[in-house]
Amino acid sequence: MEENIEIIVKEIEGKINNIDNLKDLNDLKLEYMGKSGIITKMQSGIKDASNKKEYGMKVNTVRNTFNDLYNGKLNELNEIEINKKLESERIDVTMPSKKVKKGTKHPINLTIEKIEDLFVSMGYDVVSGPELETDEYCFERLNLPKGHPARDMQDSFYITENELLRTQTSSVQARYMMAQEEKKPIRIIVPGKTYRREDDATHAPQFGQIEGLVIDKKENNVSLADLKGTLEVFAHTMLGSDLDLRFRPSYFPFTEPSYEVDVTCFKCKGKGCNLCKQTGWIEVFAAGIVHPNVLRMNGYDPDIWGGFAFGPGWDRICMFRYGIPDIRLMYQNDIRFLKEFDRRDQ
Ligand code: DAH
Repeated sequence: MEENIEIIVKEIEGKINNIDNLKDLNDLKLEYMGKSGIITKMQSGIKDASNKKEYGMKVNTVRNTFNDLYNGKLNELNEIEINKKLESERIDVTMPSKKVKKGTKHPINLTIEKIEDLFVSMGYDVVSGPELETDEYCFERLNLPKGHPARDMQDSFYITENELLRTQTSSVQARYMMAQEEKKPIRIIVPGKTYRREDDATHAPQFGQIEGLVIDKKENNVSLADLKGTLEVFAHTMLGSDLDLRFRPSYFPFTEPSYEVDVTCFKCKGKGCNLCKQTGWIEVFAAGIVHPNVLRMNGYDPDIWGGFAFGPGWDRICMFRYGIPDIRLMYQNDIRFLKEFDRRDQ
């Protein structure tokens, strides 16, 4: 029996040494320690042995030897497995990366951001208001009572009798003035979407305006000269530093006096071309001195307060800035058009 045991131990050692994977190791465990495994059978033979004690101790030695060798091999194989995994999952940080698809900013957003930066640098706040507006804020509080003929200049989308898609961001002039509990100086720009019933190469039913409003105490003399200086900075930053401005008298119910403001044609520098229809000028702004009625209706006493307002469209500025010939290109979302702007630095 003793010899037999030594042979079995040798056999176990040999077999375990040769094993190089977890499956074979598991099979070996079944072979020796399974229900009808060799060691299991030896254990149940103890009770019939002539020298139970001695035989029992030997069987124990075999079992312990098996367990030790088995556990040693298991650890060894697990370690190999982990190392293999670490090796295969190793990240080579020097490998070139996959190409990341980057979107580009839309030219209109580039334009708005540039204008916002400019006005914030001059101390203005950027504010917004609702696109679904009431007749009161879109017109009445801007000195355009119901039935006023100047309403015809803005062909509108009414949703209910008193609600419409705003035709102008001037509506936020009234909203902002009314929102000031304690009346204080105002310096804001309002970039926002506006809507009118029109659709051709230079007009889209949805377009954008950047309203500007400055109100201060009369004693601070906010004047037409300040308006002119402000629009000059605007035009020079957005369209070209060598351009002149021309103020043409015009009419808007919420300003008095009112102007349409032209800028030297940046294509021909004033000589006359097809873009400016041979006039040498391009209309960019509408503007004026805030009408006393607008101040009064929105809680600002016109004997104490005064200021100016202006309202260019962002589409025209964007088209001029980037040489875009048709307003509809900007709203069609054609990826080929948008790609044109990925290398422009603004
Ligand atoms: N809201 C006017 C329009 O859409 C443009 C305008 C004119 C805005 C004069 C102003 C302004 O702020 O002072 O036709």
